[in-house]
Amino acid sequence: MRVGVLTGGGDCPGLNAVLRAVTRKGISVYQHEVLGFRSGWQGPIEGLTKPLGLDKVEEILNRGGTILGSSRTNPFKVDNGVERLKATLEQEGVDALVAIGGEDTLGVAEQLVHEGVPVVGVPKTIDNDLGATDYTFGFDTAVHIATEAIDRLRTTAESHHRALVVEVMGRHAGWIALHSGLAGGANVILVPEQEFDVDKVTDWVRQRFEAQYAPIIVVAEGAVPQGGKEMLVTGEKDAFGHVRLGGVGTWLADEIAGRTGKESRAVVLGHVQRGGTPTAYDRVLATRFGLHAIDAVTEGDFGKMVALRGTDVVRVPLSEATAELKTVPLERYQEAEVLFG
Ligand code: F6P
Repeated sequence: MRVGVLTGGGDCPGLNAVLRAVTRKGISVYQHEVLGFRSGWQGPIEGLTKPLGLDKVEEILNRGGTILGSSRTNPFKVDNGVERLKATLEQEGVDALVAIGGEDTLGVAEQLVHEGVPVVGVPKTIDNDLGATDYTFGFDTAVHIATEAIDRLRTTAESHHRALVVEVMGRHAGWIALHSGLAGGANVILVPEQEFDVDKVTDWVRQRFEAQYAPIIVVAEGAVPQGGKEMLVTGEKDAFGHVRLGGVGTWLADEIAGRTGKESRAVVLGHVQRGGTPTAYDRVLATRFGLHAIDAVTEGDFGKMVALRGTDVVRVPLSEATAELKTVPLERYQEAEVLFG
């Protein structure tokens, strides 16, 4: 069997661990050939390939990013994209595909299955917002990086008696903010799921200053103040069509300074959260996903995605992967809220 594999969407620590597991088990256990496609769905559309032999996946387990490159290309939005993709698979003699990606990549995978392309999905996103799996790899690494940043920012905030607003990733789901905020002992955590009350935030910040400590506010990039949903979306799109967000962290730091008369600083962690070596947890999860994905391919169990349920890796329909975004439930937020201030 000749198995194609690609990584789509935003990169994420652990992608290379999946590629390694798919390739090693695919070749050593099943005697498959493994063909990498470069740059997400752009690879099979344009015939951009990278054969993956055992030597190609040596020493990549702990490397961040993806050796295949990634993109947000959607074959359904490209002229003759699906036809060109099918033609490449035919030409390269590829019998099945493993697509590693988030909501968009797996959504495409599901549509392709309906078009007769045999695909197995592997979920990834630092945001941990895919409904069908308990955890996605990349999330643990992002939380570790954000937590370390909070620890570091706390000492400089304390030295200068300033408020520090730490903006973390998460447009639609506040999992990184919630977990890093809890792990870092943040005094306020703000998530996209709950519009925040700036007066309340200011009260928590004041309480902290009054107790002679420097407040740390962790805010997800997609969090918005009450009634201010449009305020932080600039309406501008970048060259690739992504809507720019206005920078809630900077806005909030200015607001806090204005309301308390205390110095405030904002730090936007951005893509630091997606770079570098994956944690041990993410390496293990990514490896297990890769091993189970190549099993599914070999058994011809297409249209499925591997997923973590409890401690087991199971297969679920690809349609479940994209059915519902897993956001932070109110009760999980309220559980943390009692620690604010
Ligand atoms: O989905 C992963 C993610 O890192 C989000 O947390 C973030 O909003 C987005 O991707 C950033 O995308 P880009 O890398 O295209 O700027």
